[in-house]
Amino acid sequence: MKKPIAIACDHAALDMKAEVIKHLSDNGFECIDYGTYTKDSCNYPDYAEKVCTAVYEGKHDLGILICGTGIGMSMAANKCKGIRAALCSDTFSARFTRLHNDANILCMGARTIGAGLACDIADIFVNTPFEGGRHKTRVDMITALEEKLSK
Ligand code: RB5
Repeated sequence: MKKPIAIACDHAALDMKAEVIKHLSDNGFECIDYGTYTKDSCNYPDYAEKVCTAVYEGKHDLGILICGTGIGMSMAANKCKGIRAALCSDTFSARFTRLHNDANILCMGARTIGAGLACDIADIFVNTPFEGGRHKTRVDMITALEEKLSK
């Protein structure tokens, strides 16, 4: 049974988030929307925290965070334990960050790419499995770095 996808955005990405949710829902993925729900100015780390906490707690395997550039969301998400966030603006990166990095959070920029591409990127991200093998060794090294540098 597939777990629902966690998704959130800031005020810059409300419309794109709605398009991504519709696209994923139309393609059989339940999305849980952690906000923001209006175009009122807000702070993207609050929404990165909501999604990353839910992924860390095991409520979701994968999450999507969208802000103006995707950069702030990816910076905030990558500070969270157990999170491997990838900022993607192309489908190749989305495919390979799942295959090779086992990324569990996809970040995108609503001011840098269009909604059609964002939907394609999200589609590939949620449908591509981790390849494991030699890539698991490297992902385990990322986890070890997280442990080592958070002491
Ligand atoms: C909001 O204006 C903007 O700074 C935010 O959406 C994002 O691009 C930050 O990285």
